[in-house]
This record gives sequence, C-alpha cells and structure tokens, in this order.
Amino acid sequence: MKNIVLIGFMGCGKSTFGKLIAKKLGYEFLDTDDVIEKTEKMKISDIFSKEGEEYFRKCERNICKSLALENNKIIATGGGIIKSEENIEMLKLNGIILYLKADAHKIFENVNKSNIVRPLLEKEDKMGEIVRLLAQRTPLYEKYAQITVDVNGSIEESTNKILTALRGEI
Ligand code: S3P
Repeated sequence: MKNIVLIGFMGCGKSTFGKLIAKKLGYEFLDTDDVIEKTEKMKISDIFSKEGEEYFRKCERNICKSLALENNKIIATGGGIIKSEENIEMLKLNGIILYLKADAHKIFENVNKSNIVRPLLEKEDKMGEIVRLLAQRTPLYEKYAQITVDVNGSIEESTNKILTALRGEI
C-alpha cells in the first residue's frame, strides 16, 4: 500500500485526522515532527531556538528521503514541508499527497487550543502572521496536492470527507 501524506498549514489538523484515519484504514501513523524530535532528542521549538530554522529544514529533508522507502503509513508532515520541492518528490515516490485545506480563522482557533509551541507563530500579531504565511504557502499546497479536502467543518465531518476522498485512490 502507498503512503498517504498529509500536507497543510500549521494547525489544520494533520496529526488529529492522520491518527483517526490511520485507525479506520488500518495504516500506521507517523508524524515527521515527532520523528525529528526523537532523532534530535529535542523539542521542535528548541531546535529552532538553538540550531535555527535552516538546521530544522535539513532534518526535514533527511526524513523525507527515508520515508520514500516506507509503505502503508499515514504521514503527517510539518506545515513547511512544501518549502522544498525535493521533499515532495521524495514523499510522492511511494505516497499520495493529500492537502488539508483550512482557512485562517480555523487555523487560529486550532493553534490557540493546542499546547504545541509553533516557533513561526510566536508573534504578537498571531492572526496577521497566519494570514501572511498562508497567502505565501497556499499556492504551494495547491500545486503539490493530488487530493484536496476542506477541513473547516467539524472533526467528524472532515474525517468523513477525507475517507470519501480516499475511496478509489487506495
Ligand atoms: C512548521 C510547522 C510545524 C513544525 C515547525 C515548522 C512550518 O508543524 O514543523 O514548527 O514551517 O509550518 P505543524 O504543521 O504540525 O504545526
């Protein structure tokens, strides 16, 4: 079975939906940020503050290379994975790219509920930063998406939409 690779902005629900659909479909779940934290023995926020974003992006590229060899996994990626085309090429080797599309308000709501520290959103004007980054990245998510699912509704609604979209693809 090919992997299902979830892409989308921070806080769109890649890990939440990834775990839910992995359970339903009998896939294994994997989160690139978790793998990086385990390998580096550091929290993502500490990697950013101690080693810098470039170092983090290098870790991400290494993970994408190794994931090309996996199968039967639901892979939740970090929101910035699309900054490198090579990452997507690697993930596509044995994966279907599924974009979880959320609007700025939904993202703002989700990141405020979450206890994960997202270094790129540690700004005074968090909503402004979400809007700015989302505008910059949306064309990339759209360019790489093989399937797109709107996840602005409830968790249950969106999970069903994802499962429907995947029918016939896996
Ligand atoms: C990032 C997203 C984060 C994490 C890091 C950078 C980004 O993951 O990889 O803080 O550049 O969008 P989530 O999308 O899971 O929040």
